Amino acid sequence: MSYITDRLRAEFAAAMGRKESAGTVPGQMFEDVLRDAQVQRRSLLKGSLGATIAAAFGSGLLTACGGGDDDDAAPAPAPAPGPAPADSYDVTFSKIDKATGAQVVVPANYTVEVMYAAGDACVAGSAAFAGSFFGSGDTEKMAGGQHDGMHFFEIPGVDPNKGGLLAINHEAPEVAVLFPALFEFKPETATAEQKKLALSSVGVSVIEVAVGADGKWAVKKDSKYNKRYTGNSTYNVSGPAKSAVGNTVIGTLNNCSSGHTPWGTYLTCEETTNNYLDPSQAEEGYGWVVEIDPLGQLSGLPVKRTALGRFDHENTAYLMGADNRVAFYLGDDSTPGCVYKFVPNGKVDLNNRAANANLLDDGVLYAAKFNADGTGQWLPLVQGQSGLTAGAVDPGNETQGAADDETIDFLTQADVLLNTKAAARVAGATLMDRPEWVTVGLDKKIYMTLTNNGGRTVTDPANPRVSNKHGHIVQWTEAGDAPTATTFKWELFLLAGDPSLAEDNLKGNIVGDTFSSPDGLRVDPQGRLWVQTDASTSASTTSVFGNNAMYYVDQKSRASRRFLVGPDGCEITGLAYTPDLKTFFINIQHPSSALGAWPSNQPGQNPILPGRSATIVVRHKEAKPVGA
Ligand code: FEO
Ligand code: CA
Ligand code: CA
Repeated sequence: MSYITDRLRAEFAAAMGRKESAGTVPGQMFEDVLRDAQVQRRSLLKGSLGATIAAAFGSGLLTACGGGDDDDAAPAPAPAPGPAPADSYDVTFSKIDKATGAQVVVPANYTVEVMYAAGDACVAGSAAFAGSFFGSGDTEKMAGGQHDGMHFFEIPGVDPNKGGLLAINHEAPEVAVLFPALFEFKPETATAEQKKLALSSVGVSVIEVAVGADGKWAVKKDSKYNKRYTGNSTYNVSGPAKSAVGNTVIGTLNNCSSGHTPWGTYLTCEETTNNYLDPSQAEEGYGWVVEIDPLGQLSGLPVKRTALGRFDHENTAYLMGADNRVAFYLGDDSTPGCVYKFVPNGKVDLNNRAANANLLDDGVLYAAKFNADGTGQWLPLVQGQSGLTAGAVDPGNETQGAADDETIDFLTQADVLLNTKAAARVAGATLMDRPEWVTVGLDKKIYMTLTNNGGRTVTDPANPRVSNKHGHIVQWTEAGDAPTATTFKWELFLLAGDPSLAEDNLKGNIVGDTFSSPDGLRVDPQGRLWVQTDASTSASTTSVFGNNAMYYVDQKSRASRRFLVGPDGCEITGLAYTPDLKTFFINIQHPSSALGAWPSNQPGQNPILPGRSATIVVRHKEAKPVGA
């Protein structure tokens, strides 16, 4: 999760008197930001969750940074010449250096365009934020905030390299486009309208995007597909915990990253197990994977799929066998959290989308145990198995130090799913250093980022560093490459860090361009691994690694090459692409919210607006696949 989520949730937990407050939600990012970056604004706004939100998103009082960007001023890519030779997907781009500043930086032969920023118009007929604040009836229809995971879906009959649908997650409210500067949102005192405003900014955008006559990608403003799913919308509930959750839930939130299914639906992942923006909602309604059909063809959606467990979901990625059995991998971005997979009992039907309607309700959820000898087991989280019975003993989080045992009753599968984190610990799953994204390669190798765990005091082979401030990536393969396997083999793919750092456990072993806190991760359809970072934005970190960035990492040599650097204050998260891989969509989350900051300093943008999260389009100037 982003440091903004860390802070919002820690403050909420503290306000609720919960023990998972400050002491167990450390995060090197959270601490560094407090120490180095936000001190000035926090001194203006302090003392409550509302102040935390205002400080986290900025007050808008800072002055504009100005500046231009040659890359952004460049003309749009020329059409591909004549009968083109076969595209090469070799990765040959010239690495860029680490950088700070109020720009997105890419190699010289690439362009960057801002396409969809927080507050932009989404639903057909809606208005865009232009400096005046709207009521929730309008904000409900505009782009949400804190853009995160996303996926590109094809539209039948449309050339997918020229147009399609983007489903985009919005992790948290973009306060700068919702409330006047210095407004303090406090859930305990917020009006119903103020809660609606905050909740309108989370969830999902579905937008139709296309290349226009000017050669640029843009949102089709009148598209019937443009839709928002927000913290105020109603969601169906399905699966074994439906009886405990209810038939419907109001709101999805903390929509961090995401995934998709072989039948073309979007899986948005809730990275919170309570509604900290509206605590009047029962907390059992949150912490689920929600299935959405961007095409709007399937009935019963959106739906919270309880069979996939309730925890701080990061994203999903699937592995499908030749027999159409499938596994969906899942990570719990907690300090620490476990790795999971859900294996439906049925097979995917690729010829009939509707035939997959119940596939995510009926199956087995497993948690991973990483053994010291490089083997691993998938432990079934099934009531009556793996110790999941009445009077089970949860050992607690023992990675940060001593933890009390707690007795917990697992009497039904709903009990297991509502308390998935505890069930995984009872079963003996490995507590990992904040699982972020998981991705599945063409070679069926599975990669997962473990972003960091600065508070770890007890190591294990899969989490080998105390004070793991920079994180690592693990890789595993299923026995027989089968989604249904119950064993796997794993190895450490890389340890993040930088050799210039003094402490041995911070050096890491990256070959090439170093980074901290890997988070976003995708193997693209040509089998190329891209890594995005969410490291601290403090000077002590950016002086070593530069701003958060995106890297290509060769799976064989494990060499890392920096492709894109984001503007000050941001994390890079979210990656989608057209089938030809000539257009990459990338999200810039929580850049500086100062007036005039990125993207307001970019061509075609209103320069007086605050900085805000946005989706950008990255292309090669000669219309080659990204990577050339
Ligand atoms: Fe929202 Fe775990 O990143
Ligand atoms: Ca993160
Ligand atoms: Ca993330």
